[in-house]
Amino acid sequence: MSDKIKYTRKGDVAVLRIQNPPVNALSHAVREGLVAGMAQAEADVGVKAVLIVGEGRAFIAGADITEFGKTPLEPYLPDVCKRVEASPLIVVASMHGVSLGGGLEIALSAHYRVAQPSARVGLPEVHLGLIPGAGATQRLPRLVGVDASLDLITTGRQVKADEALKLGIIDKVAEGDPEEVGLAYAESLIADAAPRRAVSEMPAPEPIDWDASYDGTLKKGRGQISPAQAVRAVQAASELPFDEGMLAERKMFMDLMETDQRQGMIHAFFSERAVGNLPELKGVEPRALQSIGIIGGGTMGAGIATAALLAGFNVILIEMTPDAAEAARGRIAGNLSGALKRGKITQMKFDAMTTTALEVSINYDSLALVDLVIEAVFEDMGVKKEVFGKLDAVCKPGAILASNTSYLDIDEIAASTSRPADVIGLHFFSPAHIMKLLEVVVADKTAPEVVATGFALGKALNKISVRAGVCDGFIGNRILATYRTAADHMVLDGASPYQIDKALVDFGFAMGPFAVGDLAGLDIGWATRKRKAATRHPAERVPTYPDKICEAGNFGQKTGKGFYIYEKGTRGSVPNPEVPELIAAERTELGITPRDFTDAEITRRYMAAMVNEAARLLGEGIAKRPLDIDMVLLFGYGFPRYWGGPMKWADLQGLPAVLADIESYAKEDAWFWEPAPLLKQLVVEGRSFDDLNKDAAK
Ligand code: 3HC
Ligand code: NAI
Repeated sequence: MSDKIKYTRKGDVAVLRIQNPPVNALSHAVREGLVAGMAQAEADVGVKAVLIVGEGRAFIAGADITEFGKTPLEPYLPDVCKRVEASPLIVVASMHGVSLGGGLEIALSAHYRVAQPSARVGLPEVHLGLIPGAGATQRLPRLVGVDASLDLITTGRQVKADEALKLGIIDKVAEGDPEEVGLAYAESLIADAAPRRAVSEMPAPEPIDWDASYDGTLKKGRGQISPAQAVRAVQAASELPFDEGMLAERKMFMDLMETDQRQGMIHAFFSERAVGNLPELKGVEPRALQSIGIIGGGTMGAGIATAALLAGFNVILIEMTPDAAEAARGRIAGNLSGALKRGKITQMKFDAMTTTALEVSINYDSLALVDLVIEAVFEDMGVKKEVFGKLDAVCKPGAILASNTSYLDIDEIAASTSRPADVIGLHFFSPAHIMKLLEVVVADKTAPEVVATGFALGKALNKISVRAGVCDGFIGNRILATYRTAADHMVLDGASPYQIDKALVDFGFAMGPFAVGDLAGLDIGWATRKRKAATRHPAERVPTYPDKICEAGNFGQKTGKGFYIYEKGTRGSVPNPEVPELIAAERTELGITPRDFTDAEITRRYMAAMVNEAARLLGEGIAKRPLDIDMVLLFGYGFPRYWGGPMKWADLQGLPAVLADIESYAKEDAWFWEPAPLLKQLVVEGRSFDDLNKDAAK
C-alpha cells in the first residue's frame, strides 16, 4: 500500500483516506495506492462498502500537473477510475473542499457521492489546454445530460454543492467531518441494501447538433482548441458504446497533451503562483496594513479606493475641492453598486463601504494615521512632487508612500521626500477594481519590507502582483510602446489598422492595438509622443497621422470617434473612413509605396517587437524573470492565455527563429530592430527564457 493512502476498517466500511498534501493531486503513488486500497477492501472479509475521502483542504484537486509532459506511469488514471467503478462493493466518495478534474472523475467512478455544503466541483482541464481524460466526458453526460456537461466541461466553471446536487452530480449534501459524513452515508446505503450503481452502465445521453455546438465553442474560445475538442468527446459519449467513448476521449486528451496550447496554459498556471514568490523577499515581513489613503479620486483613484474597500480596508480619499471629493465618492459608490448588483457584496456591506469605511476629504491632515497612501493625481512630475511633499509632512513615520504613475520616475519622486526608503510605485490598471494586474515598482532606495507590503496589498486586493524596476513605462507600458510602434510602422508601410487589429484578434488577443488605443483614449498616446519628442532618436520613425486624428478632437471611444466610429448600440467595429485617407496622405508625403502584409507577417513582427523589448528589459534587470513579463502581458494587456505569455510564446517558436526574424527586419530599420543582447546570448548558449525562470527558482 502506498503511503499516500491510509487504509482503515470502520465496521462494514473500508476507508481509503488520501494523504497527499497540499491538495491530494493524483500522483503516481496516489493512483497506485487507490488501486491497492480497492483490492485490500475487496479481500477484507465482511467489508460491504468502500469510502474514499481526502485529508486536508480538498478531496482531490485533479491529476498531478507536475507529471504532465513526463512519461506516464501505470496505473493510468482512466484505469484507476475503471477499477474503482468495477468494484463489487458499494463505493462512496465523500467530498470536501474542491473535487476538480481527475478528482471529480474519481468521484464519478464511485457509486454514490456526498459533499459538504462548502464543497466545489468542476472540470477545469480546459484551463490547462486539455479536456478531462479519465472518463468525465463519458460519465458526466450519462449522469446529468449533454447540456449541463458541456457547460461544465467547455467553461471549466466550478459549481458549489447545492448546484451540483440540483444538477445530479452528487447525491447528497451533508455537513460535518468528511469521513464521519461519508461513513454515515455508506452505512445508510448498506442498511437500505442500495445497489451498486455504475455511471458507465447508464444509458447514453441524447444527441444535440454537435457541429453547431463545436463551431460556437471554437468561436467563443478565441482560438483555444480544447473547449471545442470537449464537444467532440461528449459527442462520442452519445454515439459510441462506453468503452469506445473512453478510447476516443483518451486519444483526444493525449493529442491535446502534445500541443503548444497545453504547454502555454500550464506555464500560465504555475507562473501565476510563482510570480508573487520573490527570492529577495524570503523572510521579509510586510508592514501592518489597515487603513489606506488615496490622493486623487479620478478614474484610477476611485477604482483603487473601490478595490481597497472591497478587500475590507478603511479608505481616506483626498481631492482638491469639496465638489471633486463628492464626485469621487459618487464614482466609488457607482463602482460598488456594480458589485452589489452582481451579488458580490450585500446591501449592508455596500452601506458600510460607502459610509463608515470611506472618508473623503480635502485636508491632507486626515492622513496622519494611515498605513499606506497611494497617489493617483495628474500625470505630471511637478504635481506629484508637490503631493509627496505634503504626504512627507503629514504621514506618520513608517507609512508607505506609493505612486500610481504610469511612466514617471519613482526614484525622482522618492528623492523629493525625506524618506525615500518608504516610497514605491504601485501601478494599477484601469478599471482598478476589476483588472487583476498590479506592477510593484521598486525604486533604488525602496526598503525590502516596503516591497513585501506592496505584494501583501496586492494579495489582499486579489491582484496578480509583479515586481518591476524603474524605467519609462515599467514592464507593461514600455513593452506596449514598442509593439505598438511596430504596428505603426506596418501601417506606414502598407497594412491597415483594421487588418492589424483583426490579425491580432485572430492570434488570440482580446483586442487589437488600435481598438485598445481607442478604448484607453488616443489623447494619452498623443501626450506621450509630445513628451518624448525632445529626446527622440533621429532614426526613430514616428507616424504623424494619429496626431491629426487627435487634433480634430477625436480621442477614441470617449469622443465617439477614433480609429473606429462608436455609435450608441454598436460595439465599435465600424472603421473610421477618415483614417485611411490620413494614412494615405502621410505615405505620399514620405514617398512610401504601400505593400501587402499577410496576417502571419503582421503577427510575427508584432510578437518579435514584443519579445525583443521584453528581452531588453530582462537584460537591464527591470524585470527579474521572464515569467514576470508573461504575467504582466496576460493580466494587463489581453495576451492570449493559451500562449502562456510572450516569453513562453518565444520559447515555443524557438529563440533562434525569433532572433532570425528580428535580424531580417533589422535590414530595413537597424535602429528599431536592434536585437536585444540577452536574446542573442540565449541563442548562442542554446538556452530558453524558461531556463532563466528555472535559474531564478534555484
Ligand atoms: N497538481 C499538482 N500540483 C497542484 C495541483 C495539481 N492538480 N493543484 C494545485 N497544485 C499545487 C499548486 O501548484 C501549489 O503549489 P505551490 O504551493 O508549490 O505553489 C499548491 O498545490 C497549492 O495550490 P494553490 O496555491 O493554487 O492553492 P489554492 O488553495 O489557492 O487553490 C486549487 C487550490 C483550487 C486546487 C488550485 O490549485 C487549482 O485550481 N488547481 C488546479 C486544479 C486542476 O486544474 N485540476 C485538473 C488537473 S488536469 C486533470 O485532472 C486531468 C484529468 O482529467 C486526467
Ligand atoms: P484623472 O484625471 O481621472 O484623475 C486625477 C484626479 O486627481 C482628479 O480627480 C484631480 O482632481 C485629482 N488631483 C489632481 N491633483 C490633486 C492634488 N494635488 N490633490 C488631490 N487630488 C488631486 O486621472 P487618472 O486617469 O485617474 O490618472 C491618475 C494617475 O494614474 C496618473 O498618474 C496616471 O498616469 C495613472 N494611471 C492611469 C491609468 C488610466 O488608465 N487612466 C492607468 C494606470 C495609471
